[in-house]
Amino acid sequence: MTEQTLVLVKPDAVERGLTGEVIRRIEAKGYVLTNIRLVTPDRAILERHYAEHAGKPFYEPLVEFMLSGPIVAAAFAGDAVIAGVRSLLGASDPTVAAPGTIRGDLGRDWGVAVQRNLVHASDSTESAERELDIWFGA
Ligand code: PPS
Repeated sequence: MTEQTLVLVKPDAVERGLTGEVIRRIEAKGYVLTNIRLVTPDRAILERHYAEHAGKPFYEPLVEFMLSGPIVAAAFAGDAVIAGVRSLLGASDPTVAAPGTIRGDLGRDWGVAVQRNLVHASDSTESAERELDIWFGA
């Protein structure tokens, strides 16, 4: 079934000039870019986006990291695109993400407390719908 997912190219990837490479890999897999924009997010939109993580130890560092520079929000469509893009990203921790994945090939542990793992992607149909509305809704 054709579905859509939300991808955020995080500040570390934008700063390192990897936006094109991230988008290229997702397109090369055969998913279709349906929307894209460069955003300087404010705290309110990030608190909506990461609401499920509020109260977790990494929540505040994560929000601060996402506020540290511009990000790129993109929507992709395709059959099983939600699971497919998560697979392309690899594990959350770039040190253990498998080679061949975006995080495995391009990310690493930079020795800072905040996890800089290049990209976010929706993890379920419910979160994709919610996140697409946050970043691309009216
Ligand atoms: S959980 O609790 O299993 O859902 O957590 P996880 O999926 O591993 O991570 C959820 C998001 O939090 C980010 N994260 C962090 N950010 C900053 N610092 C630390 N220490 C940290 N640990 C986890 C992780 O990258 C996920 O971000 P998104 O944007 O959803 O990929």
